[in-house]
Amino acid sequence: MTFPNEEDRLREIKELNEQIQELQSNLMQAQKLSSVGALASSTTHEFNNILTTVINYAKMGLRHQDGKTREKAFEKILAAGQRASKITCGMLSYARQQGNRQEPTDVVQLVKSVMVLVEKDLQMNRVRWQTDFLGHPEANLNTGQIQQVLINLIVNARQAMDEGGQLFITVRSNTEDNWAEISVRDTGSGIPADKLRNIFQPFFTTKEADEQGQGGTGLGLALCKEIIDSHEGRIRVESAQGKGTTFTLKFPLLREIPQIEKAEEMREAG
Ligand SMILES: Nc1ncnc2c1ncn2[C@@H]1O[C@H](COP(=O)(O)OP(=O)(O)OP(=O)(O)O)[C@@H](O)[C@H]1O
Ligand SMILES: [Mg+2]
Repeated sequence: MTFPNEEDRLREIKELNEQIQELQSNLMQAQKLSSVGALASSTTHEFNNILTTVINYAKMGLRHQDGKTREKAFEKILAAGQRASKITCGMLSYARQQGNRQEPTDVVQLVKSVMVLVEKDLQMNRVRWQTDFLGHPEANLNTGQIQQVLINLIVNARQAMDEGGQLFITVRSNTEDNWAEISVRDTGSGIPADKLRNIFQPFFTTKEADEQGQGGTGLGLALCKEIIDSHEGRIRVESAQGKGTTFTLKFPLLREIPQIEKAEEMREAG
């Protein structure tokens, strides 16, 4: 291709760059929807359970005339409805969030919002999980993107534990080196040393297609890396074959949220 002058060439480069950025953001959105897809079966299952609860307690309330039984029925129906609403709100807000804006974010709250989305999936796959909040850091984050990173890591961890296992998610404030840290540790298959250096490469996957033609795309970790880089963060992996894997995320620490502020927030939230 020839360009009549330097100005046209620069314009062409600018346009190409914009196209790349748009493609990248489309890819990010597509991968996000694929992570929603990975949780679809467990979410449907949970909704089915919630509906069964609602139907059974509604029947019970209709059958019994006494106030006490009816009150109990209403309480159960309300709790089931609230649980369903927590899940749908979480899913919708995760799927909808777009854009690159990063803002001061409570890391503990963010991790909790992810656990609401994945807990049924873990339970259905016999994975026991535990969160440890050893600090309460605030960092400049894009909530939707970091949720996406955590869901990718958690789904990977679950897939590495087909016989069930344990998952530990820990939040720390490293005030010495000024990092807000999140680690995701599993007791799964681990990653062989010769594969470890490839896992962040786009399209690197060890997950073969099943009967429905669904395997891994190998894009999950590549996008995690991309997102973490855009936050000026770090992503590290340690793995021992047959023992398990730990991914650690680090973000520049803005501050440790003081206890008193947390109490205030809880009071306001009622
Ligand atoms: N927690 C883990 N335990 C063991 N292996 C892992 C773990 N996380 C990632 N891997 C390895 O890294 C590879 C790349 O992971 P990545 O998330 O990028 O793609 P994928 O999971 O294969 O595909 P997709 O994310 O589209 O489902 C995986 O195929 C797997 O071999
Ligand atoms: Mg993956």
